Amino acid sequence: MKIMQKLAQDRHLSAIEAINVEHWIPESGYWDFSVLEEVASQSWSKTRLAHIDLSAWQSFLGDLPRDPYVNRRWKRMSWLHLNDEGEVETLGECPMAQGGRFNDAASMADRLRYYEPLLPEFTEREDVKAFVKAWAELWGLERRAPILMQITGVRGDGTVDPLQGQGIHADGCKYLSIMVLNRDNVSGAVNTLYRDKAGQQEVGRVTLAPGEVLHLRDDRLFHSVDAITQCEPSAPFERFIIIINACFVDEFQNRMLRRHFPQAVLNEAMLESAS
Ligand SMILES: [Fe+2]
Repeated sequence: MKIMQKLAQDRHLSAIEAINVEHWIPESGYWDFSVLEEVASQSWSKTRLAHIDLSAWQSFLGDLPRDPYVNRRWKRMSWLHLNDEGEVETLGECPMAQGGRFNDAASMADRLRYYEPLLPEFTEREDVKAFVKAWAELWGLERRAPILMQITGVRGDGTVDPLQGQGIHADGCKYLSIMVLNRDNVSGAVNTLYRDKAGQQEVGRVTLAPGEVLHLRDDRLFHSVDAITQCEPSAPFERFIIIINACFVDEFQNRMLRRHFPQAVLNEAMLESAS
């Protein structure tokens, strides 16, 4: 059995080498090889998270505070990193800071946004730490590189634009994943991926079910999400997601990160070109 697995692994590894991967070969086995191949060949991949207790993660949706900057949205967020020993640690406060280049919504662009942190009962869960570690490994992230992890979502009646005017956009980083936690009484919310901000070159359309995750190279692709519409009018709709991203190319965010986390490993090339 072991020999068969090794042969399959070797085949996948040579497939990955053939498509000229820049760096990593994750060793933990957390991700299927198809994820590694797709991320390398097309800069995105959709998969199901096999190693989490989804219902336990969903139990953290109940007490999310409202997003003070965006109507009908709820959010918590924390900055994390892998320390020098490779263990997940929670960092202190640093605001979200998306420059106008990366956010077309007037309510968010060029503003510092402060949110309540993720609860320690969540970030200290073994399956959360294992996910963050594996996520960092997927992208070959350096130790002490800040990772932004958010739980956010919308609930209500009628129809809502979950992006609140952001349209087709990039989040201003290299590595981004979106995982759906729940999706109740919802139609729409299709994620579309494009090569260009104008949306002329569509490369993929993805609808995520609870427990599924979309990985993407945010510096290579733009994304959008359709309006969310209530299916059954007698009950509210609800869709909550985890967004996790790292390696920021947004100079505004990098300046804030440097100020709040002097020891952090940042995307220095971008930082230097900004100064
Ligand atoms: Fe986004």
